[in-house]
Amino acid sequence: MPTIQRKEPMNAPAPSKKQQRIYRVAVIGGDGTGPEVIREGQKVLEAAAKVEGFSLAWEPHDFSGARYLRTKELVSDKDIETLRKADAIYLGAVGHPDVQPGILEHGVLLKLRFALDQYINLRPVKLYPGVWTPLRDKTPEHIDFVVVRENTEGLYTGSGGFLRKGTPDEVALQSSINTRKGVERCVRYAFDLTRTRTRKKLTFCGKTNVLTYAHDLWQRVFQEVAKEYPEVQTDYAHVDATCMWMVKNPEWFDVIVTDNMFGDIITDLGAMIQGGMGIAAGGNINPQGVSMFEPIGGSAPKYTGKNVINPLAAICAGGMLLERLGEKQAAARVEQSVMRLTPQLKSLAAGKMGYSTTEVGDLVARYVAEASAQ
Ligand code: IPM
Ligand code: MN
Repeated sequence: MPTIQRKEPMNAPAPSKKQQRIYRVAVIGGDGTGPEVIREGQKVLEAAAKVEGFSLAWEPHDFSGARYLRTKELVSDKDIETLRKADAIYLGAVGHPDVQPGILEHGVLLKLRFALDQYINLRPVKLYPGVWTPLRDKTPEHIDFVVVRENTEGLYTGSGGFLRKGTPDEVALQSSINTRKGVERCVRYAFDLTRTRTRKKLTFCGKTNVLTYAHDLWQRVFQEVAKEYPEVQTDYAHVDATCMWMVKNPEWFDVIVTDNMFGDIITDLGAMIQGGMGIAAGGNINPQGVSMFEPIGGSAPKYTGKNVINPLAAICAGGMLLERLGEKQAAARVEQSVMRLTPQLKSLAAGKMGYSTTEVGDLVARYVAEASAQ
């Protein structure tokens, strides 16, 4: 076992040159193509670590549908305590065709997000050079925004139940939970992020005309917090209109803040306009704790083991992970290298890239190393 030196708390001053930066990264390859894409991501992150002078101590964990089928085990409270000690978590995908829907979602992904209080789901929607978008006449200058999705409340808490289940009089309830604290911390995060961006425009995406309790709270919090950020331009769009504008005028958006369910839906639309699941990455962030980074595309079982899946989403998630660790230069190298590669790919779709999974990883890792010479 290597001697592990814990990184100082997040956002602590940069360590002196002599001090070694070693980060413990828990790795959950998961199911399907998850392990393949994470392997390429690790390759790229290792290359970035080498040129930037830090090291990554990988700690593999097997949380997956495959393991669940063998052992009936999901993520236990003890597992959570282990993961809490990591500096970051790198997740491939969890999802297995033989496991009934809901079990892995609640037992692994949502368990991790909730137990580790990763209350922000950060999803950049950025069209990279040379990438095909289904939106005609839109180029990288039109598609460059970030969705801040609330990640621990709303319709996702599992609050609800059945009455008279299985009878003709059955009632199903599923409540959207919106707490003042939960909404406020999410909205504040969005304002803090918006303030660091060039355009400084924050749009609250809701449905205030129908969700007259839940989104009334959101709107009041949004307007109150806005007063503390006079430099941020604020805007509002209903969720249905947001979908319309994301297609027609994506350039209107800089940062969007929204609840858990709407954020889930609009970020799939976002993934499509940025070129598809091959490139869409996200971070489950606990600004005070351990955060988890993942390609948002799922386990794609039919491509498993064929060396055809696009690892760029996982690589981009790895770039976000480095950013979160405070390794901003390394993160920038990763993004620049991805942007150097995208114009050379025939497509971002699995099997149609013109390169294999491992070739894409090798190329990005090489570009990361070359960027250091500049
Ligand atoms: C996502 C996924 C998850 C979600 C599912 C798998 C529970 O769709 O990360 O967007 O709804 O959050
Ligand atoms: Mn989703």
